[in-house]
Amino acid sequence: MKRYDIAAIGELNVDIILNGIESEPEIGKEKFAREMTVTLGSSTAIFAANAAALGSKVCFVGMIGRDSFGALVRSSLEAKGVDTRYLVEGDTPTGATICMSYGEDRANLTYQGSMDVMTFDDIPQEVFANTRHIHLSSLFMQSGLLRDVHRILDTAAANSVTVSLDTQWDPMETWKLDYKTVLPKVTVFMPNEKELQCLTGAPDLESAIAAVLPYLGGAMMLKCGSDGSILIRKDGSRVHLPAFLNKEVVDAIGAGDSCNSGFVSAFVKGLPLEECQRTGNLTGAVNTTAAGGTGAFSSLEAVRKVCAERFGQKLNL
Ligand SMILES: Nc1ncnc2c1ncn2[C@@H]1O[C@H](COP(=O)(O)OP(=O)(O)OP(=O)(O)O)[C@@H](O)[C@H]1O
Ligand SMILES: [Mg+2]
Repeated sequence: MKRYDIAAIGELNVDIILNGIESEPEIGKEKFAREMTVTLGSSTAIFAANAAALGSKVCFVGMIGRDSFGALVRSSLEAKGVDTRYLVEGDTPTGATICMSYGEDRANLTYQGSMDVMTFDDIPQEVFANTRHIHLSSLFMQSGLLRDVHRILDTAAANSVTVSLDTQWDPMETWKLDYKTVLPKVTVFMPNEKELQCLTGAPDLESAIAAVLPYLGGAMMLKCGSDGSILIRKDGSRVHLPAFLNKEVVDAIGAGDSCNSGFVSAFVKGLPLEECQRTGNLTGAVNTTAAGGTGAFSSLEAVRKVCAERFGQKLNL
C-alpha cells in the first residue's frame, strides 16, 4: 500500500485580490481599492484541495520561499487536508498574483517567484515511491519543471506511477512542449480545447485531436467548458459527454481544476474511464455552484448533496 493516492506537482502562489478600484492604475499616480483579500492562489492548489475533499489521499510537491506568503500557502493547503511535507523551501520569494477586479473582468500581474525555479532535483525522490499517481500541472508557469519534464515522467514510469497532465495556458504563448515525445509517457492528458489547438498549432479542433492521437499514452480528457468533455482513447474511440448544466452559475473560476480533481479521484479508485469522465464533468459543474475554485468543496458530503439536489446525479466516490 502506498501512502498517497495522488501527488500534485505544480505551481503555488498567493493571490492578492483588490476589489472596488476607483479607476485603472496609471504610472505616476496613486489610487485606492476599497477591498482586499489575500488568499491561496494557484490552479494546482485548487486541484489538490478538491481531490482531498473528495476523499483522495493527496500530497503537494511545489516550491515556496522562506517568507510569510510561503507560510500562508502551507497552512492553507494543510487546512484543506493536503499533506505538505514535500513542499520545498527555496531562496526565491513565494510567487504572488495581484488581481485587480473590475466587475467581471480582472487584470492580473504575476510574479512567478519560487514556482519558476523548481527543478526535478528539488523533488524529494521518495515522492515517487510513496504515491500511486502524479498529477502534473501548469508546466508553462514553471520553466524548471518544463525543462525537466522527461525526468519526471521517466521516474514516474520506473516506479509504476500513473500520470495525468494538464499543461494549462502558456502565458508566453510559445507552447514549447514537444507533445510527440511527452504524451506517450502520460496516462491521461487533460487539456481544454483552446490549449490543445495552441499546443498542436492546428487550425481547428478536429485536426488538433488528429495531431495528438498517435501519441496518446492512454487517453485524453478534452474539456469543452459548458459543452462538457470528450474522452478520447488512444485507439481513437470517443465519448462526448454534455455538461451537467448549471443555469445559475456563480462563477467558473477553477472549473477545470475541479473537473481534474473528480476525474483523477475516480481514476485512482480504479473506476472505468467513462465513469472518471462523468465524475469530472460533475465536479466541474459542482464548482460553478459556489464562489471561487474550492467554495463548493467543503466536504465529500456537501459535494454529494449538490450532485444529487442540483444535478440529479450520484457521486460514485
Ligand atoms: N457552466 C458550466 N456548467 C456546468 N458544467 C460546467 C460549466 N463550465 C464547465 N463545466 C464543467 O467543467 C469541466 C471543465 O471546465 P472547462 O472546460 O472550463 O475547463 P478548463 O478550460 O480547464 O478551465 P480552467 O479555466 O478552470 O482551467 C467541463 O468539461 C464541464 O463538464
Ligand atoms: Mg484548465
